[in-house]
Amino acid sequence: MADGRDGAPQLRTEDRGGVRWLVADNPARLNAFTRGMWAALPRRIAEAEQDHDVRVVVLTGTGEKAFSAGADISEFDTARTVETAAEYDRVNNEAFQAVARCAKPTIAAIQGYCMGGGLELAACCDLRLASESALFAVPAAKLGIGYNPRWIKPLLAVVSPARARELLYTGRRFDAAEALAMGLVNSVHAPGAIMGAVTALAGEIAANAPLSILAAKRSIDEIIEHPENPDLAALDRLVEACFASEDYIEGRRAFLQKRKPVFRGR
Ligand code: COA
Repeated sequence: MADGRDGAPQLRTEDRGGVRWLVADNPARLNAFTRGMWAALPRRIAEAEQDHDVRVVVLTGTGEKAFSAGADISEFDTARTVETAAEYDRVNNEAFQAVARCAKPTIAAIQGYCMGGGLELAACCDLRLASESALFAVPAAKLGIGYNPRWIKPLLAVVSPARARELLYTGRRFDAAEALAMGLVNSVHAPGAIMGAVTALAGEIAANAPLSILAAKRSIDEIIEHPENPDLAALDRLVEACFASEDYIEGRRAFLQKRKPVFRGR
């Protein structure tokens, strides 16, 4: 990704061939998220959802040292006191929700530190690719922070309860191999190869039929969220939309003509 740069902390946006990259850009603080960066995330996700040309959203951090070291602790004296913590968590929560519910597939591209809110953000993505350099931790218990119960669900959608307990109770760092073994990441890549691997995966997904991916994504999320009573009627409608789509005609035609399909998401 882009090299480290000076400047005010921000969430940068870059478009590359149907893939929208959202880049946590606060390298002086290992891409820690300021309150302003959390607040920007739902807006950026909404923009990506509304942009028909965007097929995949990638979240990453500036430089190789960190995906994100979590929330910007230097703001906590003011932004996360006993009086302001609930409001801070609300903004934080809206950011996680926006990523978790994004209508487009999401990938976290993780290099270096992926801690606290950074790890939670990665857990809210559909897929996580890590560099061998990646280090994961949820250090809330080391800081006396109460971990918001709303943030447990995305974590439990990715790792087992036993692993979530280990992450939360110890607050210790886990390396990329441990993260792979616990299912926290989908794959691990050499530091020089991680961004190429993310680009290739994003491209592979971007070439597929968007309505098929949306139906799959919503089905997986709904069945995780309401395993006993999923809204199958709503999910069936998404599947019906696939069968009624131009892309379904294109997919069959391309198969028979032995060429790559060109999907339009309709
Ligand atoms: N918020 C604000 N600043 C942060 C930060 C965070 N979450 N994480 C790192 N930084 C800052 C450091 O204060 C330091 O700033 P300085 O150069 O002005 O002193 C800079 O980023 C580099 O971090 P440093 O601690 O020197 O790097 P390191 O390689 O020795 O350690 C970490 C890296 C990630 C282990 C360590 O910075 C850390 O524990 N960060 C906090 C992680 C955390 O608890 N996140 C959860 C927040 S809820």
